[in-house]
Amino acid sequence: MTDWKTIDYFFDESLVENPYPYLEDLRSAGPVVALPHLGVVAVTGYDEAHEIYRDTDTFSSCNSVIGPFATFPVPLDGDDITDIVCKYRDQLPMHEHMVTMDPPDHTQERALLMRLITPKRLKDNEAFMWRLADQQLDEFVANGRCEFITEYAQPFAMLAVADLLGVPEDDHRKFKEGFGLTKSPGTVGAGAEGSVGENPLAWLDSWFSQYIEDRRNSPGKDVLTDLALATYPDGATPEVVSVVRTATFLFAAGQETTARLLAAALRHLAEHPELQDTLRENRELIPNFLEEALRLESPVKTDFRLTKRTVTIAGVEITAGTPLMLLNSAANRDPRRFECPAEFRLDRPNANAHIAFGRGPHSCPGSPLARAEGRISLERILDRTRNIRISDEHHGPADARSFNYEPTWILRGLTKLHLEFDTVDAETTR
Ligand code: HEM
Repeated sequence: MTDWKTIDYFFDESLVENPYPYLEDLRSAGPVVALPHLGVVAVTGYDEAHEIYRDTDTFSSCNSVIGPFATFPVPLDGDDITDIVCKYRDQLPMHEHMVTMDPPDHTQERALLMRLITPKRLKDNEAFMWRLADQQLDEFVANGRCEFITEYAQPFAMLAVADLLGVPEDDHRKFKEGFGLTKSPGTVGAGAEGSVGENPLAWLDSWFSQYIEDRRNSPGKDVLTDLALATYPDGATPEVVSVVRTATFLFAAGQETTARLLAAALRHLAEHPELQDTLRENRELIPNFLEEALRLESPVKTDFRLTKRTVTIAGVEITAGTPLMLLNSAANRDPRRFECPAEFRLDRPNANAHIAFGRGPHSCPGSPLARAEGRISLERILDRTRNIRISDEHHGPADARSFNYEPTWILRGLTKLHLEFDTVDAETTR
């Protein structure tokens, strides 16, 4: 069933496995459409989403994560609700994270973050990722099979962020345990000391508070010291809690998203064996392969904004107070922008015009890292394996595959990806 007039996007489980027919049905009603549920206006158009992402005067990010479930203690009446948003935004979930902030607070927090994600830091981080890719592959490659998400993508994406933030390598094992990403018994939220338990960010908060306080008391020459001593553009020193929040949010924003991108890319490769050889022999094609994977299977399916002032877009009046759903996964398949948008084209000339990383002032600051993670992972996986294939045992035979996706309306991601492959002798490929 694909009828957008009857399907409730937020509750209908049939959309989890394959939302695209529904999104195409929605697109047929126009690039901007008022949904019958929760007062949401949905945006499937590329140009329209672009415009909204960039216009922070008219649209607030206060509901960017929770969308239509952001509730205010007063009615959102009138043609301009800017003052109401300012007054009550602190009562919304996630208000303390930059992704929900608007200028000028957002500008301030974002500047602090960008002092940490410098070209030099990214370069050093990349050197670490080459080693990390091999370490992760060493754990299972000789078996000729793996569950790619838990054995590779999640630990890889988590440790890439940990290294970006300067977490010492001696502590990486504890981070893996904390996130439940090791095979050691008793660590997955099972009360192991310092383990993730029910609230991963709370667990991380205490680790990072310790790091920051240590480095403020006795500065060293490491990245954590840079993090601890970073200042706002006006020279003011942020409180420890602000620095910690910035650091820990990177795990929330950068881990699952990148892990799902890696999984989507590997699924596509496993289903198209000829592509494996093409990429192995033409490494320069890997970046565009990843852009096409991001476009076609955008890990962040939806993003939200709250309309502060009544406005008209694509001929549709959107009244102040309306939650807007920016459907990245539909905008990235807009035929006005991408030719034959449902096709995976390795040589698509404008693949990287996708908006999988958003646009405008909130556009993903982790995109260089995510792209490097993808490129390095593919390079080493292609080096160390041959004939990557989907496991029939777990996903069924080639003509009747079955895959499960995370049951969320925000992310698009496989829950498991069982792969089989032939192994290449590691020493010959390093
Ligand atoms: C494939 C991987 C990723 C995807 C698809 C993705 C997607 C996005 C999108 C769509 C936004 C915009 C949110 C908005 O406008 O409301 C965003 C913001 C953000 N992302 Fe990513 N992201 C990825 C990886 C990462 C990584 C690796 C990091 C950090 C290490 C990261 C950190 C952030 C942060 C901090 C924000 C908030 C920025 C702000 O509000 O100014 N992301 N991401």
